[in-house]
Amino acid sequence: MSDVTATKPAPAAKGMAGMVISDSSISFVDGAAGILEYRGHDIRQLAEHSSFEEVAYLLWNGHLPTAAELEEMRMESRSCRPLPGEIVTILRQLPNDASPTAVMRSSISILAHYDPESEDNSPAANRRKACRLLGQIAAVLAHFERIRNGHYPIEQRADLDHAANFLWMLNGAEPDPMAAKALDQYLLLLADHEFNASTFAARVTASTDSDLHSAITSAMGTLKGPLHGAAVQEAMVQFLEIGESSNVEPWFIKGKTTGRRVMGIGHRVYKVRDPRAEPLVHNLEMLVNATGERQWFDIARRLEEIAKEDPYFRDRNLSANVDFYSAPLLYSLGIPVDTFTCMFAMSRIVGWTAHVFEQMADNRLIRPQSNYVGPHDLPWVPIEERG
Ligand code: SDX
Repeated sequence: MSDVTATKPAPAAKGMAGMVISDSSISFVDGAAGILEYRGHDIRQLAEHSSFEEVAYLLWNGHLPTAAELEEMRMESRSCRPLPGEIVTILRQLPNDASPTAVMRSSISILAHYDPESEDNSPAANRRKACRLLGQIAAVLAHFERIRNGHYPIEQRADLDHAANFLWMLNGAEPDPMAAKALDQYLLLLADHEFNASTFAARVTASTDSDLHSAITSAMGTLKGPLHGAAVQEAMVQFLEIGESSNVEPWFIKGKTTGRRVMGIGHRVYKVRDPRAEPLVHNLEMLVNATGERQWFDIARRLEEIAKEDPYFRDRNLSANVDFYSAPLLYSLGIPVDTFTCMFAMSRIVGWTAHVFEQMADNRLIRPQSNYVGPHDLPWVPIEERG
């Protein structure tokens, strides 16, 4: 048997925890201090002063736009929104009970067939494709939601920004300014987050010199999991299950006895409260003060308080992550729960595409190794002698 012990690599870090894969200048995350920066700008500064479209420009181009650059971006993004008619036909043929996340994953892949530049990996073509996907996946979600409820899709409005236009396409009513602002802030806050699982999946695909639609399809499939992008849906399901603030503590205690994870709590990198939580709470508070419907917000606040006081959670630095307050915010905006992960994708499409640009600009195939722990040099046993 060959001497494999001498070259035995270090034990693998399960889930690549703590591993640094490559340099990036898109987002900075300090998990100990609870800091998130997009291209050097603190997320709280951007949440207070910026907009989702301006942040998309920042993430794609590396700097905040001038007024002229922002206006040009706005004009371009509106021209990119129209969905090929064939896609609407396909959406009509899908099962009404299809998972909206799976519908969006399939649609991203199908949209490649109707994008004349799908096989062009030049930076300029990729930038145009990213702009088209940004508008198109919003239309896919709004149209599918209406079709599955027996309504006609509603065309986009070029006079509305991205968030307000989505609400218009979803509801067919003039979007409430406060709701549009809250959704715009939500989209801004979730636009990028370093090498999270779905972004890393996009980079791995891009590193093979594959195409943008393939990379974003990989990312969308990765976001679908409840440990990542579907946690926001699971978090809302748990709030609905709790039902009212007085039920939070008994629900929490029962969950601990069964080892149930509290969705929206805990993070691989943040060991303090997610810095995106505060701006989300601020917007949610504005909404509930206007609508008077405090139920879900109060449940979330109470659950966060209880988790913070719990020794098991405290000892493991388990704090509220971005999904914990995204869930009641989206619910308060009237967004259907099973589309929350698609809302996450509507924001993260900007980060995913920015990371594809960065990967392709200075690429090397991403190919880690495994630490083989299986047997060696086994003898061949004829099938009649097995078992
Ligand atoms: C997002 O990576 C990103 O940046 C992601 C994201 C982004 O913007 O892209 O921030 C978005 O995906 C946020 C995370 C959403 N997921 C959830 O809310 C699901 C619930 N959280 C977890 O399952 C968990 O915290 C993870 C998946 C987020 C992180 O898992 P890790 O780092 O692999 O930690 P682990 O599973 O090894 O848990 C460590 C310990 C375990 O206990 P012990 O074995 O020490 O006894 O903490 C416990 C876990 O059981 N634990 C939890 C818990 N999360 C971890 N216990 C109860 N409830 C939880 N939510």
